[in-house]
Amino acid sequence: MTDLHLPLDRGAGRLAAQIAAGFRAAVRSGRLTAGTRLPSSRDLARDLQVSRGVVVAAYEQLTAEGFFIARRGDGTRIAPLARPDDTAPEPPAADPAPAALPSCDIPPDPGVPYDLWPSQPDLSAFPRERWIAATRAALRTLPSEELTYPDPGGVRPLRTELAGYLGRVRAAVAEPGRVVIMNGVAHGLSALVRLLLADGHRVLAVEDPTSVRQVPMLEAAGIRLAPVPVDRDGLDVAALARTGARAVLVTPAHQYPTGVVLSPARRAELIAWARDVDGLILEDDYDAEFRYDREPVGCLQGVDPDRVVLLGSVSKSLAPALRLGWAVAPPALATRLREHRGHTDLGAPVIEQYALAEFLRSGGYDRHLRTMRRRYRARRDALAEALAAFLPRAAVRGVSAGIHLYVELPSGCDEDAVLARAAASGVSAAGAREMWSPGRAADAPPALVLGYARLAENHLVKAAELLGKAVTEGTEG
Ligand SMILES: Cc1ncc(COP(=O)(O)O)c(C=O)c1O
Repeated sequence: MTDLHLPLDRGAGRLAAQIAAGFRAAVRSGRLTAGTRLPSSRDLARDLQVSRGVVVAAYEQLTAEGFFIARRGDGTRIAPLARPDDTAPEPPAADPAPAALPSCDIPPDPGVPYDLWPSQPDLSAFPRERWIAATRAALRTLPSEELTYPDPGGVRPLRTELAGYLGRVRAAVAEPGRVVIMNGVAHGLSALVRLLLADGHRVLAVEDPTSVRQVPMLEAAGIRLAPVPVDRDGLDVAALARTGARAVLVTPAHQYPTGVVLSPARRAELIAWARDVDGLILEDDYDAEFRYDREPVGCLQGVDPDRVVLLGSVSKSLAPALRLGWAVAPPALATRLREHRGHTDLGAPVIEQYALAEFLRSGGYDRHLRTMRRRYRARRDALAEALAAFLPRAAVRGVSAGIHLYVELPSGCDEDAVLARAAASGVSAAGAREMWSPGRAADAPPALVLGYARLAENHLVKAAELLGKAVTEGTEG
């Protein structure tokens, strides 16, 4: 490979991220094509006058994201992600047997001493002062005319700030015209499923296990759900292909609830599947801001923005109460989503949108995330260590990320009985069984899903001790 041009701004820092961004842009523009062999990390480091570790980090990141393929003896090459041609193949008949998924997700009463119910960030850490400042700044500058019904796709300043943020932090292909503001991931999904139905889709493939909260919402829209097994590499794409579905909902950065990351090979298979069936991938990026052991893997949408809709929100990063989220969609679909909002609810609250735009612009969001990442990492480590001590026969699955842990209990444990004993001692947690489809729940290892974001380390240690007792009491005599 000869004319590799990777501009670096040495004053801006994060050289590995800059190199990765340069490669992504070169692949997207077609400047680097599938199969192209890349220089060795040593050679590229010498050319760019950076340390070899910087290039290795960039190569590892791009391999994890599916842009590169590394094979022993063959070096590193650009993955086969070349643009598909325009002739879409006939879609397969989509009519799998209906397979119901569980349908309730009722949080426990508030006031439980050790509340490990998953999916909630640390609400006590909401940056009230900075949010007030952002709201005040927004209100001071907002022209009165803006207080009318908004653009149903979201106010321009927020779409612009989000496009910049998602491009920078999630390696998304996001310009303001692709961004549609929604009231959270849930709202984005509901709307998209209705558009899919209008396009003739009858089935949506979902991960198995999956977030039970979304199931009734998706079913209410009238789409049939086809559960697809998840293993340690994420969604089983061969099984997905057998469902006949042409749309799938996935959590590639941190599968909910198992916590695994979609492997580079599976990412490539999933994109290839979407192209083969002329399909659509709905990427739920619900907690991707929080990865503790390395840089987060860039979003799948950045690999093929014509086949993937990226969905995200501030529910895990700030607070679910804001009900602010986004969809980043191919332009034609973004237009339809915007129209859908125009036909259904006339758009999101304007002052909150301007406040979030200001919060992003001023760097407040980045600062808050840095603080929360440190805090959550310490909490996750404390809980994982305490579980190893008090529940040595249990296994924490998944990567170091997010705000929940998936803990497999010793085989033979009765999940419900453990939960009941834990509740009696003041610990609330979610069982994993209801997150599996009925067909697989019986064989799924007993497991708990523990949200650790809201408890200080010492409380997490105590909660782990009580959980340990709840498990051992059931296995003794
Ligand atoms: C995996 C997953 N995706 C999406 C959502 C919904 O998030 P939002 O508040 O953005 O609608 C949740 C909520 O708990 C979730 O757990």
